[in-house]
Amino acid sequence: MNPSPKPPLTYGTFEKPNDRATFAKHVIAVTSGKGGVGKSTVSANLAVALAQMGKKVGILDADIYGPDIPRLLNIRHETLKWNENDKMIPSENYGVKIMSVGITTPTPDTPLVWRSSVAVSALVQLIEDVEWGELDFFVIDMPPGTGDIQLTAAQEMKISAGILVTTPQAVATDDVSRAIRMFQDIKVPIAGIVENMSYFVAPDTKVRYDIFGSGGGEMLAANYGVKLLGQIPLLMQIRELSDEGMPPVAHADDEYRAYYQAIAKELIGTLA
Ligand SMILES: Nc1ncnc2c1ncn2[C@@H]1O[C@H](COP(=O)(O)OP(=O)(O)OP(=O)(O)O)[C@@H](O)[C@H]1O
Ligand SMILES: [Mg+2]
Repeated sequence: MNPSPKPPLTYGTFEKPNDRATFAKHVIAVTSGKGGVGKSTVSANLAVALAQMGKKVGILDADIYGPDIPRLLNIRHETLKWNENDKMIPSENYGVKIMSVGITTPTPDTPLVWRSSVAVSALVQLIEDVEWGELDFFVIDMPPGTGDIQLTAAQEMKISAGILVTTPQAVATDDVSRAIRMFQDIKVPIAGIVENMSYFVAPDTKVRYDIFGSGGGEMLAANYGVKLLGQIPLLMQIRELSDEGMPPVAHADDEYRAYYQAIAKELIGTLA
């Protein structure tokens, strides 16, 4: 990235967050305490689903050390462009404006070996120094965990809703419990839980297998008084299309697209 000389950052607090995302009506943080449960896949497809509904949508890849959004939305080989006002121009695909640290590096496989203070400043830059235009929804794909990036996002933007992604299994729900508690502690409203990889139906025999157990999402929703926004099965098509940079909500069979579209509708319902 091209760090322009600027006055030192004034960090917000949880009680009084900075409002750096004034360009967005709603900031939606997609998170989870746990890695690999499908945050990025849910974020990308939720963003595309909202755009399909005619909303103005941007997505920010806040996973500085493992940016996956460029692959999921097929902008991996784009390079960073700046406008005449020294603002970064977001990429655009499937009707969604996209910004990721992944397109600021010389090659997609360049690692960012940064201390967290640098990652946090980069996150602020990706919010503020990008020409986002006016947005209805600004979707943030969070890294796993409950650390610096989550704290910074909550201090630097007014988050309208958090979405927690989990799989049904205990090690996931344990971590997601902590993420729910974190959001509750720092007063970020929670729209609900998405249970991903909920079950697998064998395409040949149609037998259902609860590979990661069952009931985790419902249990979390009941224990913490939050909504279950949807359950998405483990599907080969979701994995294959995602790896190809073809978001399932735009390219999968209709019944599979509907999983993400229903979550987008639920989200809009909770914000209304
Ligand atoms: N419902 C699903 N069915 C099949 N594969 C899925 C599904 N959801 C996600 N995947 C696959 O699981 C893997 C992990 O998903 P993803 O990268 O979205 O998780 P993540 O929580 O963002 O991970 P990280 O913590 O590394 O950021 C990816 O290979 C993705 O394609
Ligand atoms: Mg991810």
